[in-house]
Amino acid sequence: MALEELYKEVILDHYKNPRNKRDLPGGELSCALNNPLCGDQITIHAHLDDGRMAEVTFEGSGCSISQASASMMTEAVTGRSLEEAKRLAGEFRGMMEGAVEPDEASLGDLVALKGVVKYPVRIKCAVLAWDAFQEAVSGPGQT
Ligand code: FES
Repeated sequence: MALEELYKEVILDHYKNPRNKRDLPGGELSCALNNPLCGDQITIHAHLDDGRMAEVTFEGSGCSISQASASMMTEAVTGRSLEEAKRLAGEFRGMMEGAVEPDEASLGDLVALKGVVKYPVRIKCAVLAWDAFQEAVSGPGQT
């Protein structure tokens, strides 16, 4: 299977079977953001335990790219330290801005989204959940 096909499969799988798509009662961090280009909204919930992302979930609706990216994001940051999660968010953003060549060792399945860079109008779809995550973990007391 060609790499592009594989990436499409990964995105479709997360879209059809989103991981961690639910409310998170007791999650002390959250942020809701909408994509001004389409009005779709994503809410991120997170629970920090001892400096680690113990649980990260999302709710909301949107296109396949936004939903797949949110699903992949929750998997990618869960279990990481706050600092690692923020670093990964920065790396993902760099990839989506076309500024850094993605490092598959660190980004894993997230590299499946790099093809979106070719469609500038969809980049916001891919970074929406990450923007909300970054805001959630940068809130009061989380500098
Ligand atoms: Fe709305 Fe992608 S079209 S988030």
